[in-house]
Amino acid sequence: MVGAGVMGTAVMKGLLDSKLVLPDQVWATARTQATCDKVSAKYGVRSALEFDPLVPDSGIVLIGVKPWQLEGVAARLLAAGVQPDTLLVSLVGGVTAARLDGMLRGIWVRTVPNTPCVVGHGMTAVCAGSLATTEHLELSRRIFEAVGLCEIVEETYINAITALSGSGPAYMYLVIEALVDGAVKVGLRRDMALRLATQTMLGAARMVQETGRHPASLKDDVTTPGGCTIEGLLTMEDHGIRSALARGVQEATRIVGLMGQPK
Ligand SMILES: NC(=O)c1ccc[n+]([C@@H]2O[C@H](COP(=O)([O-])OP(=O)(O)OC[C@H]3O[C@@H](n4cnc5c(N)ncnc54)[C@H](OP(=O)(O)O)[C@@H]3O)[C@@H](O)[C@H]2O)c1
Repeated sequence: MVGAGVMGTAVMKGLLDSKLVLPDQVWATARTQATCDKVSAKYGVRSALEFDPLVPDSGIVLIGVKPWQLEGVAARLLAAGVQPDTLLVSLVGGVTAARLDGMLRGIWVRTVPNTPCVVGHGMTAVCAGSLATTEHLELSRRIFEAVGLCEIVEETYINAITALSGSGPAYMYLVIEALVDGAVKVGLRRDMALRLATQTMLGAARMVQETGRHPASLKDDVTTPGGCTIEGLLTMEDHGIRSALARGVQEATRIVGLMGQPK
């Protein structure tokens, strides 16, 4: 693991919890000793500041650094001697296949995971690099299905996916927080409101996932004629909730397109 930050450790924790890998099969590397110490203490994996000597013996290298850190990391990976059959898994946001090809050269996949990988409910999209075969995609699928769901996609969708499911947990937290604020305003205790709102979001998501029904049709089930739900919904619509969320995804997609470009 090159870059044991938020996203890297989210995937790593999920993999460890699922027992797909054991702590002694993992080397976590970071830029600072503080991160190395924290990751080793928390997850029981070995850690190091220098990933270079570990690279030739690594079957899979997960790259979880920031987009602007990738160029330097990629040059060091090449110099360190990545084995021809080592799979490089980029978690790096916004860096295109064309740039990854130029930087990484070997067998790589570009992925967009999200932080719920920590609790085994991540959503990860994977697209193949130029040398990646079906076998590498299946290996990637195994990795990310150990920490949630995984879709193999074409690169053309990756920016939109980054804005939707990569960034998505943040939008959902905001919605939960706002609903809780509303409940607190009308007198519910915050801790209780948080439990209720969280379970409601989980339940609604599972309804969409498990019934396969359209969200609008599920929404109709909750809106009794003349009732309070339709009143709540119309008030939210008056305040632009639908377009706020949709435009947010649109704008995030535009920004992803700029993120991985060379400075
Ligand atoms: N966060 C998300 O929800 C999310 C979702 C999808 C994709 N991503 C992508 O995941 C990548 C990482 O994001 P993040 O939020 O996890 O960032 P982060 O928490 O800052 O993690 C980056 C990690 O890279 C380490 N690092 C930097 N240079 C290094 C080097 N030369 N050698 C080894 N480690 C090095 C840093 O070490 P130190 O801690 O010591 O500085 C840090 O632990 C980004 O490209 C982002 O676009 C993130």
